[in-house]
Amino acid sequence: MNDNVIALDGPAGSGKSTVARELATKLGYEYLDSGAFYRALTFYIFRKYEKENPSEHFQNWLEKNDPESLYSGAVVVCEFSKLGENRILLNGEDVSAAIRTPEITREIKHIASKGPYRDYVNVQLRNLALTHKLVMDGRDIGTAVFPDARYKFYLTASSRVRAERRHSQLKDQGIDSDLEEIEREIISRDRSDTEREIAPLKQAKDAILIDTDNLPKNSVIGKILECLDTAL
Ligand code: DC
Repeated sequence: MNDNVIALDGPAGSGKSTVARELATKLGYEYLDSGAFYRALTFYIFRKYEKENPSEHFQNWLEKNDPESLYSGAVVVCEFSKLGENRILLNGEDVSAAIRTPEITREIKHIASKGPYRDYVNVQLRNLALTHKLVMDGRDIGTAVFPDARYKFYLTASSRVRAERRHSQLKDQGIDSDLEEIEREIISRDRSDTEREIAPLKQAKDAILIDTDNLPKNSVIGKILECLDTAL
């Protein structure tokens, strides 16, 4: 049993990153966003593609290249911060914001669906868990990366509620957005996350399911703490 990792999986917008961050702070663990590693890797490879052949479809270009040659040279580091946000460094460059553009979000499925890239990310995640206590969020943490984690949670919510949350986050940032469009994007991401052959998004058999549709963030954290309380 692995006691160094608390696994928090679920679809995009289920609230897992906010919950994971706050949970980590409460427990004195580090928060680790596994999606950021996929984002940084996609960003690195997408840059290569833009330099080499931007007129071709990214997916076609990827298929012509050997994954190892594409990811070699990428060093992704998560700089943990107790006070603010963690920083994601790619070969020393802070890419924390650059990896979250709609373009990277759109292209990431071409990387996250392939075994060699997943293996590359998993090595980093498992290495970090050797030296840190982590609350790790993602899609396959409880099923594929740490099937031996003692504590696993699966957060879910309807696509509508997730779209509404995203819509109001954007509104708070002064950005106008279309709710229907956001929901369509969420459904499309769910599809690529759940339908891929390797390490698809799914609830681990031994994960505790939390439906966050009608549950405020603090109640979700409270529920998780209750489950951990007896053991930690
Ligand atoms: O958590 P996020 O939305 O930032 O993740 C971006 C993408 O990375 C997501 O659409 C699927 C992929 N991902 C994954 O395949 N496995 C993980 N453990 C985490 C993320």
